Amino acid sequence: MTELNKIALQIISNGKGILAADESNGTMTKRLDAVNVTSTPENRLLFRETLFSSESMRECIGGVILFDETINQITSSGKSVPDLISSTGATPGIKVDTGAKILANSSEEKITEGLDGLRERLKTYYKLGARFTKWRGVYSISNKYPSELAIYSNAHALARYSALVQECGMVPIVEPELLMDGDHSAEVCLSKTSEVIKRCFEQLIFHKIDLTGVILKPNMILAGNQSKNKISNEEVSKKTVQCLRDSVPNEVPGIAFLSGGQSEIEATKNLDLINKNNNTEFKMTFSYGRALQQSALKKWSKNNKDIKDTQITFNHRAKMCSLAAQGKWSNELESK
Ligand code: 13P
Repeated sequence: MTELNKIALQIISNGKGILAADESNGTMTKRLDAVNVTSTPENRLLFRETLFSSESMRECIGGVILFDETINQITSSGKSVPDLISSTGATPGIKVDTGAKILANSSEEKITEGLDGLRERLKTYYKLGARFTKWRGVYSISNKYPSELAIYSNAHALARYSALVQECGMVPIVEPELLMDGDHSAEVCLSKTSEVIKRCFEQLIFHKIDLTGVILKPNMILAGNQSKNKISNEEVSKKTVQCLRDSVPNEVPGIAFLSGGQSEIEATKNLDLINKNNNTEFKMTFSYGRALQQSALKKWSKNNKDIKDTQITFNHRAKMCSLAAQGKWSNELESK
């Protein structure tokens, strides 16, 4: 077993998943504005520190993805944020892309940037304690999109990113996200997601990536949020497993889904059924942002001194996601 494979498995095994707390300052400001909290570095740290020092970190969270600001912050106890995370047994990770920009010659699509100077930035993050990283490619679905140009250029960037990350001794999370915006059917989501994932792995293989040291972070297979033909949770899970079985090489140790705008319960229920129907060798877990933090953020915004209550809310969500990652979640456990 290589060191990278060991790190990947440690993050996603035994019912553990990933807390995606890597919202950029812009995105975090939107989240805080929505609950009437002023977005300052202190408030952003206070909320995140509350989550990172919760009890469920030990049992349910294998890794936390941080944003550049957060990985450099010092917590109230004097520990750095990565040290606080490591002290719970979870692995600190870092978002290293610099965001999605308009793709030249296909102006309605995006290309993710951040390769310039990446090798040096990675060394700094490694010294700060990061052992895995994230890069998100984003694709929209419509009759003409994602275009060949968007599929190829994002796959190429994801592969070059992964090569630099592994060179630096860290595990790359490869995140190709096909957005749920639109009125497309689940079948269309399935065929386009399969194509994007296959093309990403073609590039990863071309760039000589050790696939045993990669975590894939895909979207689930859903009908578009404007579609009149929604499918059941059971169908979501079956299509999602089918997509991954057909498009992900067997060497990849695991898959950690994004929640992508699903509610907390939807994202939990779908993950649970995915695991109940998982007929692959891949570990299937969560790497949720909104679907892990939404309720906790609401609770915290009412009284940010009430750390206990926020942690109780977060612990419940993390526990439910962890049960779902083992196919052991149920409605009864949810409402207990
Ligand atoms: P959501 O689970 O809120 O989609 O966020 C996950 C993520 O990291 C998106 O890049």
